[in-house]
Parts: sequence; C-alpha cells; structure tokens
Amino acid sequence: MQELEKLKLELKKLNAEYAKIKDIPLEKRVEFGQKLNTRKIEILAKIGEAEKAVLDVEVEPIDVTAFSGVNEPLPEFYTTTMGSKHPLMTELDRVVQIYQMMGFDVVESKQLDDEFHMFDSLNFAKEHPARDGYDTFRTEEGFIPPAHTSTMQHRVLKMYKARLDEGKAIAVVVPGRVFRNEDVDATHEHTFYQCEGVYVSETCSMGDMLGILREFFEKYYEQKLNIRTQPGYFPFTEPSLEFMIEKPKTLGGKKGDYLEMLGCGMIHPNVLKMAGIDPTKYHGFAWGGGIDRLVMLRYGLNDVRYFESGNLNFLREFK
Ligand code: DAH
Repeated sequence: MQELEKLKLELKKLNAEYAKIKDIPLEKRVEFGQKLNTRKIEILAKIGEAEKAVLDVEVEPIDVTAFSGVNEPLPEFYTTTMGSKHPLMTELDRVVQIYQMMGFDVVESKQLDDEFHMFDSLNFAKEHPARDGYDTFRTEEGFIPPAHTSTMQHRVLKMYKARLDEGKAIAVVVPGRVFRNEDVDATHEHTFYQCEGVYVSETCSMGDMLGILREFFEKYYEQKLNIRTQPGYFPFTEPSLEFMIEKPKTLGGKKGDYLEMLGCGMIHPNVLKMAGIDPTKYHGFAWGGGIDRLVMLRYGLNDVRYFESGNLNFLREFK
C-alpha cells in the first residue's frame, strides 16, 4: 500500500513539472517534454501494477465451482440460509385472496402519484385543512408518494365503469404501499401497506358494505367477530364511518376491547361524477385500512417498526 502511495505522490510532483515547460528555452523544450512523458508512462504502469497487487491480496476471487444451493440440501457447515417472503407480503396475499374469493378484481396502487389523484379527485376542497391531515411527502417536482390507497379510486372507477353499462357491478380491491411524513414510533411508520376496496352498482347499500367487511375480517381471523361502527369524516365518502372489530379473546382481547380497523363509507357523489359515473343512477361504497395493523393483531406484535427493519431474527419467526 505504501508503495502505491509513494508512486501517486511521485506522479503528482511530475504533473507539477509540466507547468515549467513554458520557462524552458525553446530548443530544449521538446527534450524536456519527452522526458516528462516517458517518466509519466513508467509511473502510470507501476501504479497499475501496485493497484493490482493490492487487489490480489485483499479480494478473494469468486469460486464459481462452490456450492450454489440450487436443488441441493445445504451442507451443515453453511451459515447462510435461503431467504423467504416478507411476512407482510404473505399476509397481503391472504388479504387479496379473501377478496378474490368474494369476486373482487385486484389492481395494484402506484408508489408515486400526483396532487389530482391524492386530493382533487377525492373531493378534497382546494386549501382544505384535511389535505394537511395526510402528512404527505413530496418530490421536488411536486409528485406525491401516496399517503393512502384511495389515490386509486378515480382510476379504478374510470377503468371499470363500462361494467355498469353491462348491468354489472364494479368490485375492485387495491393493495399498495403508502407513505406518510410523520414521526415514527411503535404504532406509526413512514412506510406501510393498505388495502382499498371500491364497489359500485345500481342497488348497493351500506348494509352490503358492512356484510362484506364482516365477512373479510371473519375469514382473515378465522373466527366469528363482533363489529361496531362510529361516524368518521373523509371528504370522499358521505356518510363516512370508522369500522371496528372487538379484539378476539384468542388474540388477548377482553370484552368491549374494540379496535379501529379501517375507514369506509358511501362514495361521495362528486367522486363518482368526476369519474364520469352518474350519481343519480349508481351508488358505491369504499373502504381502506392498514395491512400492518391487521398483521400485528394476528401475530400479537407490539411494534410496527419490525416490518421495515430488515431484522433477520424477526423475519425468521415467520418462516
Ligand atoms: N384513505 C383513508 C385513510 O387512509 C381511509 C379510507 C376512508 C378509505 C374511507 C376509503 C374510505 O376508501 O371510503 O385514512
């Protein structure tokens, strides 16, 4: 290593010599320049060799004949193990499958969206304080990593509205990653997952929505549940509700221990109108809730930060 540094210093000094060329008498200039060039080529070659020597010592070449792990059991001396699916992704698959069994289509949300889909298309009035309530990140160009999966509602309504003309319903769920610029603690992450649901038909009612949600949660937790709602506020639903389930005894809950699981409501006529759906003819309901919270309850986890931590001991618990 020292050798390499010496050579680099020599090269630096030599480079400084070039500045002297202009002071050398004309008749000697060519000779002087040629000497410098020859010396420079020599030093550069030596530097190349010295660098190679360092690499040879410090980097072990890859042994392409080593055990690849494919189709062979791991030898016992191996300390590494195969990776596995992240628990959130496994649970997200389960969530989506339950809705698919009920006949819902699946559309994935985007990880970068815009002001229109985050707010305007969801009936947030311009300058309304509810916009601040979402603690959005923004890129320098003004794009928004979505703070909820509701950013997809407008797209889904437009994408599927031909179904209504055929006398069918729109029934879609949207799983996705969402981002909020808020302080992180045991119950808040800057990055988490949500699943949105959108249903529109000529005849649907709030009763249908509560039936679908009850069915979903009972399937997910594999037991009968007590549910409850309370009034909420979202600009994109009217009326809006917060949907709660009683924490099951099997998961450490006591009677009367209700947990808010998601926000929901009847889709606001303005949201339907903006997507080109006649609100005097069609009705819809929508809901959206966090996946992380759902999974935490199922596995008795007390800190949401585990999910994004990359902590291998935590991840191995789910293998
Ligand atoms: N997007 C809301 C949130 O993240 C949740 C929500 C509420 C979604 C009502 C809906 C809805 O689709 O109708 O806070």
